[in-house]
Amino acid sequence: MSLLVQFENIARDFNGNSVFRDISFEISTAEHLALLGPSGCGKSTLLRLLAGLDPPSQGRILINGKIVSEDGKILVPAHERQMAMVFQDLALWPNLTALQNVLLGMGRMNLGRRERRTAAMAALEICRMESFANRKPASLSAGQQQRVALARALAVRPKLLALDEPFSGLDLTLKTEILEEIRRLAKELDLTVLLVSHDALEAVALCTEAFVLENGRCKEKGSFDLLLQNPASTTLRTFLQNIPDAQRFIP
Ligand SMILES: Nc1ncnc2c1ncn2[C@@H]1O[C@H](COP(=O)(O)OP(=O)(O)O)[C@@H](O)[C@H]1O
Ligand SMILES: [Mg+2]
Repeated sequence: MSLLVQFENIARDFNGNSVFRDISFEISTAEHLALLGPSGCGKSTLLRLLAGLDPPSQGRILINGKIVSEDGKILVPAHERQMAMVFQDLALWPNLTALQNVLLGMGRMNLGRRERRTAAMAALEICRMESFANRKPASLSAGQQQRVALARALAVRPKLLALDEPFSGLDLTLKTEILEEIRRLAKELDLTVLLVSHDALEAVALCTEAFVLENGRCKEKGSFDLLLQNPASTTLRTFLQNIPDAQRFIP
């Protein structure tokens, strides 16, 4: 395993208001890391820094040992970071079919027309959505829409898949099914996964490592297994109070 992502003393503020500071963590290749914390603690903000959509106010971010962002500057743009994101609202285009949504997501890939279509269909296929390729989002169930968003993310063949609370709208059965699907895909495609969530239960079902963000600081980080033995964060303490045998969910 090698280091894929390094956050070094990252701070982010908006007009002088600090969201978080002194954030340092690493993600190794093929690791599944959960970024946990209450709503509003800065999880999406942090993910945007990693994706290269915003610069950190301070600190630096490395991907594969190369500095991609540093002290207020984005050095490597989003489309060169080999990562893909699935957002909470999925951000599917309602007027496009599943296939067109996936194709649009592949905009910057250096592929010919036919190869592009083949790759898009392959992405739909691994998400078991190939027979829905010509359907628009509104005619798909919530779970199927998730799969289209996932196919669109995977079509760019990312090294890192980042998921920003994409399961919040799903019932428990669907959520469990999709989480299992992602575990399968991650293994098959050798993906590194960063799951952002306020819900430790879905995190524990997919991830073995966790990072808890509370009050603008890293409250704790490490393997879920160890953290759950003696949690320091409100997030994990509350989780353990509600589900005392939470460790049995760790993959
Ligand atoms: N573009 C922005 N301008 C000003 N404040 C922002 C901006 N984006 C996020 N914030 C603030 O940063 C904080 C963290 O937000 P966010 O990262 O969305 O939290 P989370 O994803 O953990 O729920 C919030 O207080 C939010 O208002
Ligand atoms: Mg968020």
